[in-house]
Amino acid sequence: MMFQRRPSSDPLWKDEFSVQAADERYVNRRQFSKFLVLTSFGLLVGNLWILIRSLRHRAPVYPAVPIARLGEIPIGGVKQFRYPDAGDTCLMIRTAPDHYVAYSQKCTHLSCAVIYSQVNNRLECPCHDGYFSVNDGRVLQGPPPRPLPKVMLEQRGDELVAVGIDLNAEG
Ligand code: FES
Repeated sequence: MMFQRRPSSDPLWKDEFSVQAADERYVNRRQFSKFLVLTSFGLLVGNLWILIRSLRHRAPVYPAVPIARLGEIPIGGVKQFRYPDAGDTCLMIRTAPDHYVAYSQKCTHLSCAVIYSQVNNRLECPCHDGYFSVNDGRVLQGPPPRPLPKVMLEQRGDELVAVGIDLNAEG
């Protein structure tokens, strides 16, 4: 016996495939409400996650560490110290009779140790000739992408005390 196709303008596969596309595209009010509730719930969870993360990433608290006594180093002199941890070397430079600056010694390019050049009055990285201003730590030349982190100093009595680090120093 031969199969007889119904006379219709629809292709044969539509007869054999029972899903009606028009019905599938129809979204009723209940489905739409469910979609809205789930989407709103997803947004709420995402916002809560962002809020929790921002609360956990507060600004770091730095210790107050005495670095040197006033007048301990000569004008143009340098003192190396470690701050805030034992592995973080820094340089303090006395630029004037009563003016001191301090920076992390770690170059912002590939972390070589910078040195102070009194002749050129700048901090120099010997690895790729990156130069930093001694006044504010900004990049003067070379590949370093950011200024040197500046160690914040406070005078307490006759001592200079490191009290924090400004990662975006420039002035
Ligand atoms: S590591 Fe300092 S300039 Fe490259």
